[in-house]
Amino acid sequence: MLDLINEPDAPRLIFGLRDTGYNVRTAAADIIDNSIAAEADQINVEIILREDGRKVIYFGDNGKGMDPDGVHWAMRYGAPQRDNPESLGKFGLGLKTASSSVCLRYTLISRKSAGQELAKLTWDLEHVAQQKQWEMLREPVTSDEREVFEELCGDNGTLVIWEKCDRILTKDYEPGGTKEKAAINRLAESLAKHISLVYHRFLDKSDERERDVDISINQSLIDPWNPFYPKRSEQVLATAKQSLLVELPDGSEQVANIRAWILPHRSDMTKEEERTEARISNRAQGFYVYREGRLIQDGSWMEVFGAPEPHTSLLRIEFDFGYELDDAFRIDVKKSRILFHPDLADGLRELLQPVYREAGKRYRRQNREQTNSSKIDHTSANKNIGGTGNASKPQVTSVDPETQSAIISNNMGPKIKLKLAVHNNVSPDTIYVEAVENITSGELWQPAFRSAGDSGHAPAVLLNKHHDFYQKIYKRAAANGFAVEGMDLLLWAFAVAEQNNTNEELEPIFEDIRNEISRNLHKLLRNVSDPEPDELTTEEES
Ligand SMILES: Nc1ncnc2c1ncn2[C@@H]1O[C@H](COP(=O)(O)OP(=O)(O)OP(=O)(O)O)[C@@H](O)[C@H]1O
Ligand SMILES: [Mg+2]
Repeated sequence: MLDLINEPDAPRLIFGLRDTGYNVRTAAADIIDNSIAAEADQINVEIILREDGRKVIYFGDNGKGMDPDGVHWAMRYGAPQRDNPESLGKFGLGLKTASSSVCLRYTLISRKSAGQELAKLTWDLEHVAQQKQWEMLREPVTSDEREVFEELCGDNGTLVIWEKCDRILTKDYEPGGTKEKAAINRLAESLAKHISLVYHRFLDKSDERERDVDISINQSLIDPWNPFYPKRSEQVLATAKQSLLVELPDGSEQVANIRAWILPHRSDMTKEEERTEARISNRAQGFYVYREGRLIQDGSWMEVFGAPEPHTSLLRIEFDFGYELDDAFRIDVKKSRILFHPDLADGLRELLQPVYREAGKRYRRQNREQTNSSKIDHTSANKNIGGTGNASKPQVTSVDPETQSAIISNNMGPKIKLKLAVHNNVSPDTIYVEAVENITSGELWQPAFRSAGDSGHAPAVLLNKHHDFYQKIYKRAAANGFAVEGMDLLLWAFAVAEQNNTNEELEPIFEDIRNEISRNLHKLLRNVSDPEPDELTTEEES
């Protein structure tokens, strides 16, 4: 039978396990999970860059700690199963796979009480490669380590040390130089940001769902960030719909909880509020999945809805489950993703369809309101037209604002009576071109005669603010700094050419043409989206 035992090759496997998809953030969270599972309420992370470029990360907690045997078992790949199934640990691998994914040498130092000696063991991947077997290192605790333990853990607790950190920065810098220091600072920031989200229920003293835990990085305490911004957002799923029965592979059922939050629109928040509290972005929409109170996935519609679209960026779904559902959701070793069974995805789609639609509606309505208030400037065209005396245009003989008609002479002859907009007392800046609210015929533009007083009417064009061409093309053109003026001049030229070549008989035909052009444009623009607010900020503004 001996030839049936086929033990893994230690160096091949221990190095192979480095590439299971962790990054520094998810790896650090796995270490912090262990501290929380050990009932710590203080977790201190220190990220250190030594002058020679060596990078060391310490994770200290004041949890239950372990005796020497405990440390030995903890360091085993496939540690014994935990007694408490609710704990954040599950596979007996996290400590090892997370640590080795970012460093080549990691150490566990622990004690259960102040009187106990510190127990220490180290995995050094290069040592394993040399020895060609699963052999740890038992080295004496250094005075430095003792000091760090006192500082970060205290009487009882556990210290995890990552050394030979070859994978915490994505680029190579001059060892210990200013650029590397800056990169380490950025790493600390991004780690803090990750932790503030992943453990926000633990960090938030007012959140009753989980016990309070303080986590600090380089001595600065991390504040929680609740992605649902409950102070200002609206939870839109009825209470009766918030419990979800999920079937397990063995046929039994367990409850998962779900809530749906629509965040306030950008235009209803201050810049500061948006930046620090809501942090609306395309990829931040979708499911926020919590296992035992700890976030394991932030954003994405999974298989439930398609790719994230800007118009649903205000919708975030809070999805909660306990360890009982691990198998149903096929939780992975990193506990950083789950999979919905296709039937569950179908159920969720049906459940969430109305709120998904509602979130989109709110976003669009606000967007239009917001972008409508962003002004498109037609003054250049007005100035240009005012300064160009020699364009071919009709001569106005008289106008009648009462009946909205004018008598003109043009290429077709004298005394032609037209029915069209006649405006008095128009602001001099908008005489020739103005975008208006009240064109209801669906036409993009209409010719008009306008005057700053009550005589001397000039040929003009009115633009329909509600036409898609105005909403989608004009607005973008304005933001990109290109030719609103060009489009203004083009439409003015059309309107005036019409006035100059029409008469009572032709007038309805021209109107039909305008109508048809406008309808065609509307059709052509059906698949062009409304501009996003950030498309409409010019370079200088943003
Ligand atoms: N900070 C800590 N304090 C006390 N015990 C710890 C600590 N970290 C790890 N342990 C012990 O080491 C064991 C192995 O940890 P490890 O993270 O490898 O596996 P796990 O947490 O049980 O499961 P998972 O693979 O899901 O993380 C734990 O079960 C726990 O008993
Ligand atoms: Mg663990």
